[in-house]
Amino acid sequence: MGNYFAKFSAFGSFAPARILTNKDLEKMVDTSDEWIRSRTGMVERHIASKEEAASDLAYQAALNAIEASDVKYKDIDMIVVATISGDHPFPSTACLLQHKLGLKNVPAFDVSAGCTGFIYACDVARQYVENGGASNVLAVGVEILTKITNWTDRNTCVLFGDAAGAAVISRAEPTDISRIIDIKLDADGSMGDYLIQMAGGSRLPASHETVDANQHTVYMEGNRIFKSAVKSMYASSDELLRRNNLTSADVDWVIPHQANLRIIEALADKMKVPINKVIINIQKYGNTSSATVPLATDEAIRSKKIRRGDILLLTSFGAGLTWGSVLARY
Ligand code: ACO
Repeated sequence: MGNYFAKFSAFGSFAPARILTNKDLEKMVDTSDEWIRSRTGMVERHIASKEEAASDLAYQAALNAIEASDVKYKDIDMIVVATISGDHPFPSTACLLQHKLGLKNVPAFDVSAGCTGFIYACDVARQYVENGGASNVLAVGVEILTKITNWTDRNTCVLFGDAAGAAVISRAEPTDISRIIDIKLDADGSMGDYLIQMAGGSRLPASHETVDANQHTVYMEGNRIFKSAVKSMYASSDELLRRNNLTSADVDWVIPHQANLRIIEALADKMKVPINKVIINIQKYGNTSSATVPLATDEAIRSKKIRRGDILLLTSFGAGLTWGSVLARY
């Protein structure tokens, strides 16, 4: 426990304008609207334009989050961006975002934890705020996975969409009802090969061969991931609740990673949480990786489902493999 408490001041999000429907995908690969709906719950997803990169989406989401908070731009003192599809391998997307926001002399860095990235970013932000190292941290989850998607592979290309979600994580006054109660992170690198962008790093640098073999796109063993997804999100959520002497009945809203509706329903079932207490928007956005959780949270706040004082459980899993959960009073 640090010297201070941290809280979610506000959320923001952004999705690119272009929409790709299941019907559109039927024309691109051997799939059907019926298969995609029944196996994933997805109906449409937003796709970035040729000109849009991760920092552009992150910028819009960050603006929305800052505007929804009572924090002034100049008081943001750290930027953490969770992404696996940043503008460039380097510099970090966080530095590009810092420049776009016109902020100077504040630390800015990326974290890489696949779809769990936003949960990891929240924990980094919380640690700094609780220890007094920062007062208002911008935590962003942004992904343009559609630019690293193999559009001839029906196993993966129907799943992903592009978006950004952001939160301003601030120091909480002792009188504030809002508070990040606890966060649990986890990882198991032995399962890294199940979900991987094989080439483009120091293991397999970019070459004509890697491009021809489609090794710069997302490779996923969907079945294996599916099995560990429910187990891992349940495990971290259950531990968080237990160690804070709460049960799932105390939670007002579960906001899970939006990777597959069947995974979300299985998690709700295992946690004994009624499905109407689970925030679901997978039908509109598909899997936007590290953006799903802040995007779904932001939408639920703006539609007044989530209200100040509600107990939130944010949970995700993804490449690494990684998983984790955040327990907070909004
Ligand atoms: N359209 C039609 N048929 C398809 C499609 C498609 N788009 N995709 C796969 N199929 C076929 C397969 O070829 C297979 O056919 P076969 O039996 O003739 O071989 C059949 O459907 C069943 O395939 P499965 O892979 O067993 O389908 P499953 O029910 O497991 O659904 C899915 C696949 C949706 C990928 C599921 O496994 C899943 O959601 N997994 C988790 C994905 C995930 O959460 N990833 C982590 C986050 S991503 C990140 O971190 C970047």
